[in-house]
Formats: sequence, C-alpha cells, structure tokens
Amino acid sequence: MNIKDLFLEFFEKKGHKIIPSAPVVPENDPSVLFNTAGMQPLVPYLMGQKHPYGTRLCDSQKCIRTNDLDEVGDVTHHTFFEMLGNWSLGDYFKEESITWSFEFLTKVLNIPVERLAVTVFEGDDSVPRDEVSANVWRSLGISNNRIAYLGADDNFWIAGESGPCGGDTEIFYFRSEDEIPEVFDPEDDRWVEIWNNVFMEFYKDENGNVSELPHKNVDTGMGLERIAAVLEGVNDNYMSSVWKDIIEKIEQVTNLPYEGNEESMRIIADHLRTAVFISADPASIKPSNTDQGYILRRLIRRAIRHAKKLNIDINSDWDKEIALMIIDKYSKYYSEVVDNKDVVLEVLQTEKNKFNRTLEKGLKEFEKVTTGYAFDVLDKDIAFKLYDTYGFPIELTIELARELNLDVDVKGFNEKFKEHQEKSRAGASQKFKGGLAGNGEIETKYHTATHLLNAALKVVVNKDVHQKGSNITSERMRFDFACDHKLTDEEKVKVEELVNKWINEGLDVTFEEMSKEDAIKSGAECMFIDRYPDIVTVYSIGDVSKELCGGPHVKNTKELGHFKIKKEEASSAGVRRIKAILE
Ligand code: ALA
Repeated sequence: MNIKDLFLEFFEKKGHKIIPSAPVVPENDPSVLFNTAGMQPLVPYLMGQKHPYGTRLCDSQKCIRTNDLDEVGDVTHHTFFEMLGNWSLGDYFKEESITWSFEFLTKVLNIPVERLAVTVFEGDDSVPRDEVSANVWRSLGISNNRIAYLGADDNFWIAGESGPCGGDTEIFYFRSEDEIPEVFDPEDDRWVEIWNNVFMEFYKDENGNVSELPHKNVDTGMGLERIAAVLEGVNDNYMSSVWKDIIEKIEQVTNLPYEGNEESMRIIADHLRTAVFISADPASIKPSNTDQGYILRRLIRRAIRHAKKLNIDINSDWDKEIALMIIDKYSKYYSEVVDNKDVVLEVLQTEKNKFNRTLEKGLKEFEKVTTGYAFDVLDKDIAFKLYDTYGFPIELTIELARELNLDVDVKGFNEKFKEHQEKSRAGASQKFKGGLAGNGEIETKYHTATHLLNAALKVVVNKDVHQKGSNITSERMRFDFACDHKLTDEEKVKVEELVNKWINEGLDVTFEEMSKEDAIKSGAECMFIDRYPDIVTVYSIGDVSKELCGGPHVKNTKELGHFKIKKEEASSAGVRRIKAILE
C-alpha cells in the first residue's frame, strides 16, 4: 500500500473521518492565491464552527506554493504537493497527537526510533515552555538528546500574518548514511523535517492581538513528496515513487535520458503537474496576466521553454501525452482531473499555440541583444519588449539572463509595466505574502450578498442560471455564472432592485444541517455536489434563497446596506461575471 493510503487508513482507525481535498484555489479567501496547507480550508472549523464530519478529520490536501517557483529544477523544490494531515477540532490534544504520529512512523512506516528527533516550543512571554509535549516524547522513547527546544521562529506556527495558530512540535528524520549523531542538531541538514504537529489554541488578529480559540485543536501536516523521498532513500526527490513514472514518461516523450537533462525534465514534470491541477480546479482558472492565471501562464510557458531546450518539437503532442499520464496517475484520488480532462488539454493547447507564435522570435531577440555586447544588467526596455511583444513573463527573462550571468533591471521593468498596464501585478505579488483572510465583517456581508445575487438572477434572467464561482475581497464581490447572453440594462436594473428589496425586507439568515440527499431534495442550490460530505449545512435567506454552504453569513439581510452592480462582462465561453459592491 502507498504512504497516502496507509496514512488515511491509520487515522480512520483512530476515529478520523477522511474528508476530500478542497480545491487548490480557496473559495472566499482572496488573500491567498492557492491553498498552501491542509488547515487552510478548515479555518472556520478551527475557529469554532461545527464541522459536519465531526471532531476528528484527516485528508490529503492539494497544496500549491509558488514563492520558490523559479527554484524548481533542483532536487527538492516543487510547486504542487500533497499534504497529509490529521485534525482534532476541540477533541484530543498533545498526548494522542504525538503518540499517534510516533506510532504511524515507527509501526506503520517502520522507521527506526534512532533515526527520529523532535523540536518543541521553548515558550515565550505569553506561552509556557512545552514540557507536556516533551514529556510525551520521552515516554515514547525519544531521549533528551534528541529533543531540541526552539523559539517562536521555529516552533510557533501560523499561516501568514493572522489566523488560528499555536506552538508546534516538529519531527525530524536522519536522512544520511553517516553514523547517526547522539545529539540532535536542528541546524545539521542531514536531519530533515518530516511532520509538523501544531497545537492550535490561539487566534492572532490583523493587529497582532492574540486571544484564545473557543477550543484547543490539533493541526498536523506531512508533505507526501518529502516523506516518500526520505523513506525511499533517494536524494533527488524526483527519483522517488511520487515522480519516477512522470520522469520516465518525459524520457520516453523526449527520447532522452534523465541523466544530463535533469533540470529541464524536473521543471517540465513539476510545472505540467501543477498546471494540470490548477486548470482542473473548479475555479476555472485560465492563463492570464494576473493572479492565479498568471501563475498558470508562467508554469506552462516555462515548461515549454525547457521542452525547447530539450529539442522537443513544441507543436507535437509532448505536453498532452505527459498531462494525460499525470491525469491518469491522480485519477484515483482527485476525480476533478478526470472530469476536467478536456479543459486541461484545451488550456495547455491554447496557451502553447499562443506562446509558440512568439517564443522563437523572442529567443532570437534575446540572443541578438545579448550577443557581442558588454553589460551586466539587461535593460528594462528589452525586458519589457520581451514581455509585451513576445509574451515572456519577466521571470522567464530573468532565468534566460541568469544563464548568461546577467541581471535584469526588474525595478525598471516594473515601473514600465505599471505605466503600461491597467492592472499591475502588484496585487498578485502582494497576495503571495499574505496570510489567510479573516472572515471579516465586510467579507461576510459580501458572502450573503452572493446568495441573494444568485437567487435574483434566477428570478430575473432565468431559473437555469447557476453559479460557476465567486471571489470576495473587502472591497467588492465577484460572481461568475453560466448564462448564454450578456445581461441587458433592464435585467441588470431588475436584479439590483430585487436584491435591494430583499435586503430592505430584513430577511433572517438561518442554517440547518441535513444529509446531502435531503438537501438536494429540498431544492437547495449547490455548486459542486461531489465536494460536499454526506452531512451538509444549508443556509436559507427568508424563503428566497437556499444553498449548501459553509458560511459564514450575516444574521439578517438588513445588515448589508445597499447593493450595486458595477460591471457585467464575459468571463469565459458561456460564463458571465458580475462585479458588485455594497455601499
Ligand atoms: N499547518 C501546519 C503546516 O503546514 C501543519 O506545517
């Protein structure tokens, strides 16, 4: 059995419900582009909301981290990974959590105790030194030499700047063939962190104030890619069972050996895998110049450039063949890759056609401006021309320049970019840094307004209008829906009037839990039926709207103020997009 199945089965036996992975693009959390940890989709439940599956959960969550996108190509970096995790929502705490992690590692994965070491939180002004965790580790046979107490930088965990958080204990594995040192040194990189158990008892708000959560939770995370590489004793992650078949496929498609072509093959493997998962996501992301779409574009274009380096005929079906193999590999766990197979292939094909028209010329242009000239820094105008005329993401130009030991005037490029583009990428890069959005008051209002808008469209336009996606920031809401025509001015006015009428009527917002079957029978709206557990929450607004939804919502529509449509436009084929505000 593979590690993922072993993990889920182990925690299922310990009373955990296996929940499906949430999509890679978070819903109603505009502060991050992608889910970067298993806990992210569970924030409302860590904050105290009741989870329909109970208090013990486990899953394998699809995660994407793009901060190191350009580092991909070495032996350890990936943009997409699966995070195995188990959670206690106010149920068990440190003792069970640590004991079970230890049991799983030593009894199921058969890791010898001598190869393990741990860190625990040494405490600070407000949180005491975590002797409870240290004592549990000792009782399991971890010697004092193998327990390191570290400060908040290492052993206090939070996603971004605010949200649920707490001290943690991290488990390390001695990866080397060398003799295992008696004393654990967390700075010695032969010790590799494999699992993080966070004891989430606090909440940090945007101003840095820390308060206690309604209950104490456990949040753990173990990266599948890393644990597989560690257990299989490979130093190159891409040689582990997670990647090996994808690399073999690339060898076959290119007719080249991995040896000697590692960097480009790793980039193609990683970037195409991530591109498959982004484009198969229910959020319907398409390559573009902003936000998730820009990441998707960068991934595909960088993969194409490296395919070119390997002399692949770009117009051939190399990318399709690799993508199909990836889809097949993950079909057992993530049905969306199969369901959206055609979408994925279409995204790859379209983006390839677009980039291929200019790639060759752009590379020639780059060669022309860099051959025979003595300079250290590539000029901003050249970088901008490569972007604007030849579709080279700036990161691609940086990579090309780096291969010639050249820097790029990125600052100058950004200034030029801002001048020329309405939408600057600043918004996107801000989001990489950001943490989780609080479900703030204003976001909550927009969330309720989304349900009203959905209901109003059904009344005014036609009853078959259905939601395709939504995105909320503190400034506005965005709502995508399937509809075969551009809304007329009259329709827009009517929709606005109807939403405002419901707001003014002061309708109560209520919710109840029921089985998914009953929910559907009751006529509740649901965007992605497969993604919901058997027991679901249904939110009703008076008798005008009924939707399967995790919340949160306002209590009464009166709280919303005045609803106003700012824009109605096409989003993609057959999908319209409304941007609206509450004022
Ligand atoms: N949320 C914790 C992490 O990502 C488990 O490391």
